[in-house]
Amino acid sequence: MTRCIMVGLGWRGTCWLAPIRRRKDVEIVGYVEPMEANRKKAVEELGVPADRLFMTLDEALAKTKAGSNSGGEWVMDNTPPAVHHEVAAKAFDRGMHVLGEKPLSDDWGNAVRTAERGAKAGLRHMVTQNVRFGSQPRATRKAIAAGLVGQVGQCDVQFYMPWADIPGSFYVTKPYMLLTDMMVHQFDMMRYVLGAEPTAIHAHTWNHKWGWHQGDAAHSIILEFPDGLMGTHVCVGNALGRQTSWNGSWHIEGSEGSIVWEGAEMWHTRMHRTSKPVHEKMMGHHRPAEDPSLLDDVLAEFLSAVKEGREPECSAADNLKTLAMTFAAIKSAKEKRLVELAEIWAGK
Ligand SMILES: NC(=O)c1ccc[n+]([C@@H]2O[C@H](COP(=O)([O-])OP(=O)(O)OC[C@H]3O[C@@H](n4cnc5c(N)ncnc54)[C@H](O)[C@@H]3O)[C@@H](O)[C@H]2O)c1
Repeated sequence: MTRCIMVGLGWRGTCWLAPIRRRKDVEIVGYVEPMEANRKKAVEELGVPADRLFMTLDEALAKTKAGSNSGGEWVMDNTPPAVHHEVAAKAFDRGMHVLGEKPLSDDWGNAVRTAERGAKAGLRHMVTQNVRFGSQPRATRKAIAAGLVGQVGQCDVQFYMPWADIPGSFYVTKPYMLLTDMMVHQFDMMRYVLGAEPTAIHAHTWNHKWGWHQGDAAHSIILEFPDGLMGTHVCVGNALGRQTSWNGSWHIEGSEGSIVWEGAEMWHTRMHRTSKPVHEKMMGHHRPAEDPSLLDDVLAEFLSAVKEGREPECSAADNLKTLAMTFAAIKSAKEKRLVELAEIWAGK
């Protein structure tokens, strides 16, 4: 049995309650939430015991005696991005592992320091890039690695969704939140699906007059990868018209054909006069039958990594490569120029 403290019971925190409660090997010993409305909801509607609900993580650690360095104890962090580094630091100081909501941080320096701190303490630190655990990215990565479309030369992604529209939330009040918060899923999927790390990014961002975000919520981005692989990402985060899926519409073009994501479907196509045309629906990835949601998959990976003493998929160290794409895109948009990923790693 592992002991867990849940930090942050806002929208995302409520999503994590069921997957964690489904685990027979996890006991939630404390919950942390400072906002009165969410505390009330937690007790009255979400079955959180009032005597286990605390105002701060310090109080929860002291009262539950969690993090006594006995190993296996962990913190689930569902706080806003600007708070993640503080929560992780407190957990690591108590010898606790961290499963933290994406993005790792809204600040590159804090993200790097946090990843280093967890690694130095020898603790597991996983970032919840749950989207890459889905059927389309899993199946497509496998198909590309198996050579289904030959050498991939281009990956074009479109994302049109009415993203994050709750007035007053950090999503709508802070600058570049679409890139900082939502696009980490898209960038992470690009790395995962293509099995490649970008070397340079050129981003142009803007806002539409009808939009509700204070930061730019639309963009057009060009990504350069090694070996001539090129990517594009086009997005309207305040779209009121026809929507893509949350994964986005993808078109991956290779030397032997394409893989296209249309809604929840995937298509493999090869059309040339020299061979018989191929246009077939691809099979999705079969997820573990016992895991009802992608969050259960993420949790299973995290708990296995803790048990086995290994680095989890989407470890903080790996996730820095995803986050570097976000900060390169923001820098590019601000400075109106192509930004090498190496500049971000150099802290420039
Ligand atoms: N993986 C995904 O697909 C996904 C989806 C949605 C949100 N998220 C992420 O989840 C995180 C939370 O987002 P949200 O939409 O739930 O935000 P939210 O504002 O609804 O909830 C955040 C909660 O954290 C609490 N909080 C703030 N500071 C705290 C502190 N120091 N200690 C304890 N609690 C604190 C707030 O009171 C609030 O209840 C963000 O990082 C967001 O990007 C991830």
